[in-house]
Amino acid sequence: MKHVRLRDLEVSRLGLGTMGMSFAYSGAGSDDDESIRAIHRALDLGVTFLDTAEVYGPFTNEELVGRALKGRRDGVVLATKFGFVSHTGRAGLDSSPASIRAAVEGSLRRLDTDHIDLYYQHRVDPDTPIEDVVGVLAELVAEGKIRHIGLSEAGPGTIRRAHAVHPVTALQSEYSLWTRDPEAEILPLLRELGIGLVPYSPLGRGFLTGQIRSLDELDEGDWRRTNPRFAGGNLERNLAIADEVAAVATEIGATPAQIALAWLLAKGDDLAPIPGTKRVARVEENVAADAISLTPEQVRRLDALTPPAGERYAEAPMGLIDR
Ligand SMILES: NC(=O)c1ccc[n+]([C@@H]2O[C@H](COP(=O)([O-])OP(=O)(O)OC[C@H]3O[C@@H](n4cnc5c(N)ncnc54)[C@H](OP(=O)(O)O)[C@@H]3O)[C@@H](O)[C@H]2O)c1
Repeated sequence: MKHVRLRDLEVSRLGLGTMGMSFAYSGAGSDDDESIRAIHRALDLGVTFLDTAEVYGPFTNEELVGRALKGRRDGVVLATKFGFVSHTGRAGLDSSPASIRAAVEGSLRRLDTDHIDLYYQHRVDPDTPIEDVVGVLAELVAEGKIRHIGLSEAGPGTIRRAHAVHPVTALQSEYSLWTRDPEAEILPLLRELGIGLVPYSPLGRGFLTGQIRSLDELDEGDWRRTNPRFAGGNLERNLAIADEVAAVATEIGATPAQIALAWLLAKGDDLAPIPGTKRVARVEENVAADAISLTPEQVRRLDALTPPAGERYAEAPMGLIDR
């Protein structure tokens, strides 16, 4: 597995997102043993970069990752996030210094570790100046509780202000064949400042793999049923995109998931996507994308895919995206 640098943090260029093992998607929490095997398989195959968050569950995903890493913590770059769960009794986002201080202690305990390698603010909190947020995070770095600071879905102004207080190592934002938002402004800014990008939902929440052809395949409580790209007939409208990805995959002798990941890997050596799966076989499939390099012509063809129907979030979660 090739490695890349997110600023001064070296990670395998493909990570593993663990959210779906406990949260949001069909089958979450149904087979923790297989989830732990999937984490172990990823580590055995050279993945060093694991991604979780306090809010996944909440809490249960960090506990699961902590269990999986028992005796295997060394060499792992462990990333988690705070800010969706309030520890001060607020109703919404909470990145107040007091809440961050409480959050980090809980994450350290559940992850059963003495340090977090990369600690992200999960969403920008409009009620706490980013300078105050990064100020506390810088204190946590100095105390050795966290090693690196990250932001998620932060806009250009916030990124600059945060980075002026303490170097930001990585921005984690949605980026995939059907979510191209970071390309126009964010990626050039990250490159100017030397910040890495961690594309989340790189498989389009599973859609780009071609394995989700109907909402009927998703559990009643699956979060994607409420997502505009899947709901209201848009899943069916968007199937042509999955079919286009599949056509390129067939040509190359790869799977659609591998093509979606290889396309991201072709975008630079300062980004590390974190595909999510709770299954060993899919970990193996996704990790194998490391060996696929697309030709410039194939990248251009994928760049030109039809844009999807539907926003990437419904109105309320979209309102939490910093611009
Ligand atoms: N910062 C943020 O706000 C934010 C938001 C969302 C996600 N994330 C992070 O990003 C990670 C990845 O994103 P994601 O899980 O939302 O989406 P994703 O990686 O784009 O897709 C995950 C979905 O694809 C399926 N899948 C994975 N590999 C597959 C394959 N080879 N073939 C067919 N299906 C496959 C998974 O199902 P199975 O599990 O059943 O295999 C799961 O339903 C998360 O785990 C989380 O750590 C962060």
